[in-house]
Amino acid sequence: MTKKLIAGNWKMNGGLAANQALLNSILSGLRGPACDVAVCVPAPYFAQCQPLLAQGPVALGAQDVSAHETGAYTGEVSVAMLKDFGVRYAIVGHSERRQYHGENDALVASKAQRALAGGVTPIVCVGETLAEREANRTEEVVKRQLAAVIHLNGHCISEIVVAYEPVWAIGTGKTATPEQARDVHGVLRAQLKAATPHAQRVKILYGGSMNAGNAAQLLAQPDIDGGLIGGASLKAPDFLTIIASAA
Ligand code: PGA
Repeated sequence: MTKKLIAGNWKMNGGLAANQALLNSILSGLRGPACDVAVCVPAPYFAQCQPLLAQGPVALGAQDVSAHETGAYTGEVSVAMLKDFGVRYAIVGHSERRQYHGENDALVASKAQRALAGGVTPIVCVGETLAEREANRTEEVVKRQLAAVIHLNGHCISEIVVAYEPVWAIGTGKTATPEQARDVHGVLRAQLKAATPHAQRVKILYGGSMNAGNAAQLLAQPDIDGGLIGGASLKAPDFLTIIASAA
């Protein structure tokens, strides 16, 4: 069994002083974590966070990456730029990017491809809306989203991380039940197995209101290989409790 991964997604939160305080508290509270840990910070803070995290057990992550290599793409950040700051992971296809920035499955797949080509591990987010769940379309939606990434990336698919994030659970305090999450993770694992003999190596994270109180139960489910944590990753004690739950 691979080590679990607990990744914080700070979203558009933080500032120089707050980042330093948060990372200091996380680093001083971590006692040789038994799982992999990452924080996905806003791009302007890579330069600040890289030295703070250097040599430590917490990897640096980004919240997005451009599908393009270089050039006239105002506002975008390339994978080479991420590499310049030691970034190990890049979230792609977060539902907030799909919803507010019009990112579709094809674009998400090419972002994942660009990240892989540049040596950054994409954390590919999939997940259904409440309306889709209520219409019994959860399986169809997450499979379609992952299929686009599999189709474009072929055998490299074993190098990605997948995050199942039901849209209705993100930032709402409503968590998927362990059974609901386990069922979808099982669907995603089966889809990966059909695509690569190394499917077991692919970590499938759960995200959506995971917190210090519910993490242990979710992380105990088969095929839940870690968590992508929004709100609770901004509070060091909560994030540390989640990390401890993944041991
Ligand atoms: P949340 O966010 O933990 O605040 O629900 C998770 C995410 O969006 O990655």
